[in-house]
Amino acid sequence: MMGRKTEHLSAAPADITRAVRILGSGGLVAFPTETVYGLGGDARDDRAVAAIYEAKGRPSFNPLIAHLPSVEAARRYVAWSDQAEALARAFWPGPLTLVLPSRDWHGISPLVTAGLETLAVRVPAHPAARALLSAFDGPVAAPSANPSGRISPTTAAHVSAGLDGRIDAVLDDGPCTVGLESTILGLFGHPTLLRPGGVSAKEITRVLGTAPLAHNSAEPIIAPGQLQSHYAPASSVRLNASERQGDEVLLGFGDMACDLNLSHSGDLVEAAAQLFAALHALDRTGRPIAVAPIPQEGLGAAINDRLGRAAAPRDSGVPGAG
Ligand code: TXA
Ligand code: MG
Repeated sequence: MMGRKTEHLSAAPADITRAVRILGSGGLVAFPTETVYGLGGDARDDRAVAAIYEAKGRPSFNPLIAHLPSVEAARRYVAWSDQAEALARAFWPGPLTLVLPSRDWHGISPLVTAGLETLAVRVPAHPAARALLSAFDGPVAAPSANPSGRISPTTAAHVSAGLDGRIDAVLDDGPCTVGLESTILGLFGHPTLLRPGGVSAKEITRVLGTAPLAHNSAEPIIAPGQLQSHYAPASSVRLNASERQGDEVLLGFGDMACDLNLSHSGDLVEAAAQLFAALHALDRTGRPIAVAPIPQEGLGAAINDRLGRAAAPRDSGVPGAG
């Protein structure tokens, strides 16, 4: 967040302990992985995850990868499979991310999955990442640690150049060895390569005994997060509503009369943190949903992007805004 003093940490045990404390109190820590530096926050903490989006200036809620210290830890959050087991044995820890159906009651913030019913999990190989994740003992959501639209960082200096003053700490342990993001493989149907990366399709084919579907056909290019339709309420959604019409339930923002308020004080980080839970809660009423205007500034852009998708006609594909 703007105005934070960014601590510069090393991979020494005392600094890992400091980084764990920051994560534990909802703060943001950039840390090295073998692929690129990630911007980490507690994946169970809505506000920490909202703060990740804010620090990056991401214009939309793309789902994030949950980073874990071990295969056993990953299995707590996703429905495991034989294919996942074979791939994890072959490539974890390492530059492969698996997207699997998430378990019920997984405890991960819906801002991490952007409302999807799948979760991306990865066990990184970098020693400093492993030390941090083991000591934290919880899932760490981490996109690449760069401002949205910029190149992924492979040194702590890259991270500082983009995010100093916006995050709580940078853990510096030298340049990343792979320098290219992890391969993302979807395992919620036939194995599908969602993003090429540190592990090749050939290596995956060798382990699975079948080639993953590639994502290179004549279809328009869609960001991985848009491959599956995002969560949209079953009820209709009307935006920029100042008051209820008919049977509607009103989702408010700021000081106003409504059924549920994203943030009474008009705080966009709080509003982002509440967004998915609020949509789920209102959807359960079975009534049409009206949503108050959200300012198009800071995290408001991402909130409005998500609301726009929720309000879009259901049968037409909503173009992705990765
Ligand atoms: O190497 C990496 O993967 C780095 C390091 C920090 O681990 N992380 C990274 O995160 O590249 P990010 O947020 O920049 O990219 C994650 C990608 C996004 O394109 C997102 O759409 C996709 O993963 N993704 C995450 N969860 C997904 C899901 N449930 N379904 C489909 N795609 C998903
Ligand atoms: Mg990225």
